[in-house]
Amino acid sequence: MAKYEILAHQLKTQIESGVWLENEKLPSLRKKSAESGYSLMTVLHAYQILESQGYISSQERSGYVVTAKNLVGNRPLVQTSESVSINDFVFDVLQASKNPHMLSLGFAYPDPSLYPRQHLNKSVAAAAKQISLTSALDNLPPGNAELRKLIAKRYAARGISISPDEIVITAGALEALSLSLQACTQPGDWVIVESPTFYGAMQALERLGLKAITIKVSPTTGLDVAALERALQTHSVKACWLMSNFQNPMGYSLSETKKQQVADLMEKYQVALIEDDVYAELYSTANNTNKSPLPIKHYMHNSSSMLCSSFSKSLVAGFRIGWVAAGARALSIQKQQLMSTFETSAPIQLSLVDYLSTKNYELHLKQLRKKLVARKKAMFAFLNEALDGVAKIYIHEGGYFLWIECHLSVDAMDIYHEALRLYITVAPGKLFSLNDEFNHCFRVNASFELNDAKRNQLRKLTEFIKQITPSKR
Ligand SMILES: Cc1ncc(COP(=O)(O)O)c(C=O)c1O
Repeated sequence: MAKYEILAHQLKTQIESGVWLENEKLPSLRKKSAESGYSLMTVLHAYQILESQGYISSQERSGYVVTAKNLVGNRPLVQTSESVSINDFVFDVLQASKNPHMLSLGFAYPDPSLYPRQHLNKSVAAAAKQISLTSALDNLPPGNAELRKLIAKRYAARGISISPDEIVITAGALEALSLSLQACTQPGDWVIVESPTFYGAMQALERLGLKAITIKVSPTTGLDVAALERALQTHSVKACWLMSNFQNPMGYSLSETKKQQVADLMEKYQVALIEDDVYAELYSTANNTNKSPLPIKHYMHNSSSMLCSSFSKSLVAGFRIGWVAAGARALSIQKQQLMSTFETSAPIQLSLVDYLSTKNYELHLKQLRKKLVARKKAMFAFLNEALDGVAKIYIHEGGYFLWIECHLSVDAMDIYHEALRLYITVAPGKLFSLNDEFNHCFRVNASFELNDAKRNQLRKLTEFIKQITPSKR
């Protein structure tokens, strides 16, 4: 990048994150040149670029002034990205989380001590005894027949009709989602995703060379259905990748009315729906709710939706078993899978069949839900008190994430780096968006139990956040 481009980029980031506010005067050319060390011409060139992009305007006697148009709060809900590039950043963040001494609040998996280890070990041992020379063949795509039937029965118990024949067993939900996207798109197609969204969605778009339309979602009400329809009207969209229950990273769920409206739009515009429902089982039982929330697929009449989920959040992450209820695309997904991973691990599929048919999964889920509610509330109460009003924390009924929104001028990457220094990981907002709208936010995994040592560690981080937040005066 040329010097003037570097300077323009720096200023743009500062304007978007609220360092320079609407109608505020930027430093004069001479002052900026002196403080940055760039020549007058370089500064002028950078300011002219920002002016041509609508970030600032030149005003007689005042010099260059920030305009309202490009401030974060004024951005349109629907934005487009011709190319997606996020994988390198996701890789770096995940690598940093691997250190076993870290308090891993940046990870998306629940505290591993919450998994029923003994029962799972027994099921693995039982599966090892059963395994035969033909097991690899029996478990070829679409996957183990018994396992598919057990999954279909669990859906039936929730009032959702899914045939075992439309289910394909995959290596985690990630493979299910990725194969689903591949089955309904060609490179260069437009795909709608939420912003912020699970980074896996953006990685899949990047890998398949797809173009993104992002729809900004609210941490309380979620997707704006009118904005979704506008995007469908203005672009030839091939697929929508959405989360309607306990969205990652914000945690909200869509109301039943919105789910119905989204289902209607998918059918009206003949768009494939890829629904990521990995947290559905982790609803809260606090209000005597005893049923997991329904997916959008339940409200659709045609078979163009692909409902993806896994056991990674509710039972065990390391087994890497997920599935897609793929409707009309089940066969094409099986064929794609044959060309990529060939099949999902046969012994692990058998272990899950044993676990689901001989152990008490319902009891495990009941205990898990209760613990998650208690831990999430405890983490919320602690952080809320420690942050003392400098950030807003969003907490929802299900799942185990807290979404934390700091002052617009705070860069959550600074929080991320300070957290690493304190042996904590958090997930910075940048991880979940193709633009910088959520650079002042971060996600915390609240499935871990707090003790004094963890509270002390976290208190240092909250002190840092308070220090970097401008005072209200
Ligand atoms: C929203 C969401 N979808 C999918 C996945 C991937 O799930 P799995 O581990 O089963 O591949 C994750 C994991 O973090 C997730 O948070």
